[in-house]
Parts: sequence; structure tokens; C-alpha cells
Amino acid sequence: MQTLHVELGERSYPIYIGAGLLTDPELLARHIGGRQVAVVTNETVAPLYLETLMRSLEGFKVASIVLPDGEVFKSWETLQLIFDGLLTARHDRRTTIIALGGGVIGDMAGFAAACYQRGVDFIQVPTTLLSQVDSSVGGKTGINHPLGKNMIGAFYQPKAVLIDTASLRTLPERELSAGLAEVIKYGLICDEPFLAWLEENMPALRALDGAALTYAIERSCAAKARVVGADERESGVRATLNLGHTFGHAIETEQGYGVWLHGEAVAAGTVMALEMSHRLGWLSAPERDRGVRLLQAAGLPVVPPRDMTPERFLEHMAVDKKVLDGQMRLVLLKHLGEAVVTADYPREILDATLRSDYVALTQSSNS
Ligand SMILES: NC(=O)c1ccc[n+]([C@@H]2O[C@H](COP(=O)([O-])OP(=O)(O)OC[C@H]3O[C@@H](n4cnc5c(N)ncnc54)[C@H](O)[C@@H]3O)[C@@H](O)[C@H]2O)c1
Ligand SMILES: [Zn+2]
Repeated sequence: MQTLHVELGERSYPIYIGAGLLTDPELLARHIGGRQVAVVTNETVAPLYLETLMRSLEGFKVASIVLPDGEVFKSWETLQLIFDGLLTARHDRRTTIIALGGGVIGDMAGFAAACYQRGVDFIQVPTTLLSQVDSSVGGKTGINHPLGKNMIGAFYQPKAVLIDTASLRTLPERELSAGLAEVIKYGLICDEPFLAWLEENMPALRALDGAALTYAIERSCAAKARVVGADERESGVRATLNLGHTFGHAIETEQGYGVWLHGEAVAAGTVMALEMSHRLGWLSAPERDRGVRLLQAAGLPVVPPRDMTPERFLEHMAVDKKVLDGQMRLVLLKHLGEAVVTADYPREILDATLRSDYVALTQSSNS
């Protein structure tokens, strides 16, 4: 087992990474203050891992709250089901909420923990690659609004993150690729040497090689922990974690939640950020193409939806949280491994980026 730490003063917490951690009662008990526990999960994950987790929680008074599965259910209505479950089982302020599932469950259960009786403890047990390398770490919690993704939420840190890499064995291939988009993101924004490692090990990762997965998760979580430790509430460097996300959120919103997976939309959005960084003269064509090829090798889409016009992009991007004082801030790359957040770019370059021929671009990056 590997242990990393998110350093946030009295809100610091460990991230445990290893195969089979779900079956370790002691690891969980260490971070549970009272006698009551509520496990929040969904209809897909419950049959796979709920029983195993329950066995590790023997001795506690455990309620399980099983939600419908899907990004469309990351909503106010579903959040209410969590509160219904907690109140029906009479959970008090000393209860601990455990989020068992992907990022949708983690974000919602975390937000419920932030709100329930003005805040109760919670533990993240992420079961998708995306949630293991990204959403479970850093304390961003929340739900979607029909007018924008993740628009309602809170910063609320977990007491611990427990990553059982064995849970990835049941993950659909498409979901694994979606998680790889965020893994690649860390290389692009702050860890250039990691890109070479990923180029070498992409086949091993996609074949679920245990050692490769553990290494990639560890290195990703270390990057995330570093950034969050330096800027918990996203007043600066943390915003670089949104590489590809402003474009990507526009794709997700346009298509309707859940049609493109978050990681897929981020991948296509990252290609757009690479292209814009190239158009600004920051990335060379070979550097841009290297990023595109890596995303492709991870099995990810690298072309935004054909029917999505620049106008539709701009409309959605304008409601994105990254807009401050009317200036659209974007995460772009000065170099591979060095991101900047800036609203200071010629508007024509953004427009040209939105009009780019990505089909041609990805074909040329392969030649
Ligand atoms: N809080 C943050 O910092 C942050 C960061 C990135 C993404 N997010 C959010 O995370 C969400 C995406 O998370 P996700 O990609 O994990 O999606 P998800 O939670 O929808 O999970 C993907 C699918 O895999 C299923 N699943 C989960 N674990 C499984 C397993 N071990 N085996 C088989 N199936 C399994 C789920 O039930 C679901 O159908 C988005 O809502 C996004 O906004 C949050
Ligand atoms: Zn993301």
C-alpha cells in the first residue's frame, strides 16, 4: 500500500492506494469517529462492492443509500434522497458518510456531507479511474444545474481517500479511457517526464496491469495533492487542473449530460487547448501532436462533435465558472508540462481555434 498526504493544516488527510484495500476494516475504522456510517453508492456499484465494504464495517451501525446511476442524476432531486436516507435512519452529527463509486457519487455524497447537519465526516472510496486520480482528492463537491455543470456545491475535504485499484477490474473500457484523460492532464500541465512514461506504458495501463495502474494513480494523486495543498480554493494554480475543461464542459452541456463521458469531453477539449496554445505560438506543432497522439492512444475522442458550432461553444463557455469579470479565462500550455491560466489572448485566436478542422489535425498528427 502507498500512502500520500494532502497537506491542508488541520484539514490534512491521507490517500491510501493499493489492491484489496476495501477488505481492510482497520483502515476504515481509523477515520470513523462515531458509531454510525452511511454508505452512499449507486445501482451499478452496489452489487459489485457494497457487500465487501459492509463486511469491513462490521461493528458500526451502517445504512446504505443506493442511488440511480448516471450523470443526469447528479441533481438536487437525488441529493434529497441522500438526506431522506440519513434522516430516516436517524443519523446524527457524528455520522460518517462513505462515498462508494465514481465521481458522480463522490461529488454528491461529499456535498451531502458538507450540508447534513452543517457538516459531517466523509470518506471517499472511489471506484473509477477518473475518481481515483481526480475527483476524490481535493474537496470539490457538488451537483449539476440544468443550466450548468457543477454549479451548486462546496469545498469540503474528506477525512481520507481509500483507493482500491482492484475495483478497476470491473470498470468498462470506455470509463477507463475517460480516466486516462485526467491522468494525461497531469503530465501536460505540470509533469512533462510523466508524458514519456505514459507513452511507454499506455498499453499496460489499458490492459489493467496492476503495477502500471498503481504508479499512474500515485503520480496523478501526488500532482493533485500538490496543487490542492498550494491552492485549496482555486484562487490561482488549482485552476490549471481545468485544462481542456472549459471547452469540454461546453461539449458536455451541449450534448446533454452523460452522452459524452466527462473524460471524453475533456479529451476533445484538451485537443482544443493544445491547438489554441499552438496558435498562440507557445507549443510547436510536434508538441501539440504529441499531446493529441497520447490522448488517442488512450482510446479517447480527439475531435469535438461535428455539429457543434463556434457560437454554441461560446454560449456554453460564457456560463462556465472560469469566467471572472466578463473575461473568459482559459487554461493553456506555455510548454508541455507548464500550464497558464489567462484571459489575455487575442480574441481572433479563440475564434480560429473554435473553427479549426480537428479531423484534419488529428490525421496530420498521425502521419
Ligand atoms: N470533484 C472534482 O474535483 C471532480 C473532478 C473531476 C470530475 N468530477 C466529476 O466526476 C464525475 C465523473 O466521474 P466518473 O467518471 O467516475 O463517472 P461516474 O461516477 O458516472 O462513473 C462512471 C460509471 O462507472 C460505474 N462504475 C463506477 N465504478 C465502477 C466499477 N468499479 N466497476 C464498474 N462500473 C463502475 C458508475 O456506476 C458509472 O456508470 C463528473 O460528474 C465530474 O463532474 C469531479
Ligand atoms: Zn475533469
